[in-house]
Amino acid sequence: MKYTKTALLLLAFSLTAYAQKGKNAKKTQTREEFVTELMGKMTIDEKISQLVQFTADGTVTGPKAGVNYIDEIKKGNVGSILNATGVKYTRELQKMNLDNSRLKIPLLFGYDVIHGYKTIFPISLGEAATWDTDAVALSARVAAEETAASGVHWTFAPMVDITRDPRWGRVSEGSGEDTYLGVQLAIARVKGFQGTNLNDLNTILACTKHFAAYGAAEAGRDYNTVDMSERVLRETYLPPFQATVDAGVATFMTSFNEIAGVPATANKFLLRDVLKGEWGFDGFVVTDYTAINELIPHGVAKDSVHAGELALKAGVDMDMVGAVYLKFLKKSLQEGNVTEAQINDACRRILNAKYDLGLFEDPYRYSDDKREKQTIYKKEYLDAALHVANESMVLLKNENSVLPLNKNQKVAFVGPLVSDEWNIIGSWAATGDRYGYATSVEEGIMEVANKKNVSFDKGVEILKDDRSMIAKAVESARNADVIVAVMGEFENMTGEAASRSSIDLPGIQKEFLAELKKLNKPIVLVLLNGRPLTLEWENENMDAILEAWYPGTRGGAAIAQTLYGINNPSGKLPMTFPRNVGQVPIYYNHKNTGRPYLGPTDPEQKYKSRYTDVDNSPLYPFGYGLSYTTFDYSNLKLSSNQINFNNTLKISVEVSNTGNYDGEEVVQLYIKDKVGTVTRPVKELKGFKKVALKKGEKKTVEFEISSNDLRFYNIDMDFVAEPGDFEVFVGGSSATETKDKFVLVR
Ligand code: GLC
Repeated sequence: MKYTKTALLLLAFSLTAYAQKGKNAKKTQTREEFVTELMGKMTIDEKISQLVQFTADGTVTGPKAGVNYIDEIKKGNVGSILNATGVKYTRELQKMNLDNSRLKIPLLFGYDVIHGYKTIFPISLGEAATWDTDAVALSARVAAEETAASGVHWTFAPMVDITRDPRWGRVSEGSGEDTYLGVQLAIARVKGFQGTNLNDLNTILACTKHFAAYGAAEAGRDYNTVDMSERVLRETYLPPFQATVDAGVATFMTSFNEIAGVPATANKFLLRDVLKGEWGFDGFVVTDYTAINELIPHGVAKDSVHAGELALKAGVDMDMVGAVYLKFLKKSLQEGNVTEAQINDACRRILNAKYDLGLFEDPYRYSDDKREKQTIYKKEYLDAALHVANESMVLLKNENSVLPLNKNQKVAFVGPLVSDEWNIIGSWAATGDRYGYATSVEEGIMEVANKKNVSFDKGVEILKDDRSMIAKAVESARNADVIVAVMGEFENMTGEAASRSSIDLPGIQKEFLAELKKLNKPIVLVLLNGRPLTLEWENENMDAILEAWYPGTRGGAAIAQTLYGINNPSGKLPMTFPRNVGQVPIYYNHKNTGRPYLGPTDPEQKYKSRYTDVDNSPLYPFGYGLSYTTFDYSNLKLSSNQINFNNTLKISVEVSNTGNYDGEEVVQLYIKDKVGTVTRPVKELKGFKKVALKKGEKKTVEFEISSNDLRFYNIDMDFVAEPGDFEVFVGGSSATETKDKFVLVR
């Protein structure tokens, strides 16, 4: 079912319906008055306890920290708990806390709800591949509804780290390599999670992470060093963070990495000067897991006391799991190394969030067993997950239109992930059920295909060198018209602490494909993976390749519906796919250099910025994705070939569906600033629109830009546009050559 606007409106209705309950609560004092009065009664120990977060016994998301969180709650030492889920568990802990809290200050429950709480949507990189802000907002909205109904107040999402290095496992959690796309999706997620009023019962605090530039870890190795110019930091990595502040995000999380020698968790420039100063952020900052303690191995703190002082002075409000604030902040205060004002500011920010959620009025307002049961896995949520999964599918190759399949064909489905229900919902899948609940590809196929015409054989494992099943799988493929191989990575081969130095298909999966290739039948490769992979051999030897990411609870159904043409794939790559890992980092909005290599036709083949063993071009570029139909671009028009700083440029292009299927196309707008006081990227995404076109239909797609869209940090680090020549590119991928030009004048 195409997720119609109606369905979205229905979902919106259900929000409003619930929202009323929250709005009816009367407030006798303003937040400022209430929190000021409360803090006036609090001891310094009680204030420090608000800055303390420990992990419960739920999901494990970091190294053991050797603290008994139950004991600490009973001592009234805790302000927040992460990794406790479900109404029963959270209510139990909340009661334990309130029974031991002199001033009845409620606990705040946080959890990593990245792409769904129970109903799991595609991983964030897959959601990014939809290039559909409504779809991404819908995913966050559904996640918030299930999370809030389960007693949890706060998600540690959106993860907005821009990254250009697929060796880094956490690319799976973000929106890819592009700042503009990252900004749009970050805003959509914050609005999806937080709704319009945090007092509403179906909204949760969002948390923009990891601040900042965590995705630029050297060599793609998690937690590794980050070093970059302030210009690159501000132009490429910070905009999605700032956009969430403007969207009203309630919390931020610091990153593990250093930036140019200063760890983010002790980085006053980042936290106080930029975030709380320049951007005016009035929420609170939590560290990542034990990140204050890690200032010692970073080498900027001589011991835990020093680490806590650095963090508080830099602007960290809450200590995740590290127990540094709990154990040492009072001592630092007594020794005059931190001030009560710093502690008060952190405490106030945290109490403000609890007030906004209505927890002081009723600490158990999120703890309703009946609501939890009614909310989890609602049919409209599962349908929404299927819709977003369908939108996330990226068709990378389709030689001779081997796809879509038809039900009369005999199809041999093979591969280690063909019947998989565990990996298909990806990493960071919160409380999502895997075995017995998630729809595998096999189960999805059985929903749509003719059962007599399909077979399923694993053939190989993902990593094990076990060839014992290959013969049987090849045998069942021998009688088929088409072979579909469902392959990829284990879900835990991406996500945190999952960097890979090789990004090939792991194990002997390629060897198995080579065996299948000997049958001389069309082969379709379906990929379940959390990062761009190096697929040169597969691109050469497969007839079709469908990038499915980890598509979530209904993922197998989305893959099946796509393979059989019920869904026409419309996804576009949010990250470049390299030819080989030696090209990394490789991204579309690169600089031109003084010796740009023009490819095989370049008259100068030696003294150019290139490799001797591989072309500079990627295997698949950013923004690329095919459809079962074809789209034609024509009549690119500019409202003028000259604009100034007070008017705008209107850009229009006609897009025609020239194929045999209804479909959707992501029309992308790129701009090139030809000359600047500093070097500029060869092109930058400045707009996109996903348009539905019936076969034979033509639509005019319009964009409007102003000089504000052309701003960058110039030679003096002023964020300005500079007069000069620009080029406009429009098309269905960053590789488009459909262009025109204009001049910006004073
Ligand atoms: C982890 C992750 C972070 C997560 C946090 C809490 O180490 O880096 O993304 O939100 O700890 O689980």
